Amino acid sequence: MKKKIKKDKALSTDQQINQPTEAYHIPVLLQETIAGLAIQPEGIYVDCTFGGGGHSKAILEQLGPKGKLFAFDQDEDAKRNLPDDERLVFVPHNFRHLERFLRLHQINAVDGIMADLGVSSHQFDEAGRGFSTRFDAELDMRMDQRQSLTAFEVVKNYSEVQLHKLFEQYGEVTNAKTLAKKIVDVRNHVSLKTIDAFKNALREVVKGNPNKYFAQVFQALRIQVNDELGALKEMLQQIPKLLKPGGRVAIITFHSLEDRLVKNFFRRGSFDEPERNPFINEVELNELKIITKKSIQPSEKEMNENPRSRSARLRVAEKIMMV
Ligand SMILES: C[S@@+](CC[C@H](N)C(=O)[O-])C[C@H]1O[C@@H](n2cnc3c(N)ncnc32)[C@H](O)[C@@H]1O
Repeated sequence: MKKKIKKDKALSTDQQINQPTEAYHIPVLLQETIAGLAIQPEGIYVDCTFGGGGHSKAILEQLGPKGKLFAFDQDEDAKRNLPDDERLVFVPHNFRHLERFLRLHQINAVDGIMADLGVSSHQFDEAGRGFSTRFDAELDMRMDQRQSLTAFEVVKNYSEVQLHKLFEQYGEVTNAKTLAKKIVDVRNHVSLKTIDAFKNALREVVKGNPNKYFAQVFQALRIQVNDELGALKEMLQQIPKLLKPGGRVAIITFHSLEDRLVKNFFRRGSFDEPERNPFINEVELNELKIITKKSIQPSEKEMNENPRSRSARLRVAEKIMMV
């Protein structure tokens, strides 16, 4: 079944909004996430998405001297925000390898895991990273600069069908088929290596507001380049096993494709809507109990102070004591 991103929030140009660039990243739903984790001062915690370290620093404030925090980030730039704190271990890798790297540090179970998905303001505002439609740079969009696949590789090598699907599913681009066809038509005689070249070559297929249109197109490319949904699924599947009974998981999402995966996984330990047989009373075995019946959204005040927070949704679950 084809799943679409909800129009209202998913394809907002949230992360294209101009903001002062001096801050690496303003943490979103900070108090709500920390409260959701119900931190034990001597516990072991994981921040899957260190970024500017806003959430990590707040977790460290709640931890006592024996507490421990493992912080993952696949972007080398995030390292510059590391505080000098011996309770913190930084893991410069994709959170899809959560269990593997925790095991490397002799950790089998933790008291809490959080993730604040997507890209940081720094990644958006750093022109050379190629995430933003506002600047000219190479069409890059890699969070992890060690990986070889860039957005340029995607537009250069993917088939028309693959491009059509990804623009439709990850960007909800209204004329995804026309866009895909146009890319395939022009790419043999025009280089699409830079953002300006890409935008100029596609100018005639743009529908509606060009800023909004390209924000949708860029979001789709970014999700594909970084395999954001694949990494999220792999990370979620490791959580029930890694959490101690009573341990908490808190995830902040920024569009409905991510939110749906988190919601379904917290509810039933799988990603898809089950096909129910009305004649069989199926018992679902799930190791997680939902703490936030409805997702938590930023307050009006937070949205006004930090417009990039406006599509954020927080969901919290707890590993049940006995399965
Ligand atoms: C929204 S920012 C996190 C901001 C952070 N909570 C703060 O308060 O500053 C997301 C960060 O997660 C990283 N990231 C996204 N997906 C990742 C993944 N699959 N594995 C590791 N890091 C990832 C990005 O590189 C980025 O730095």
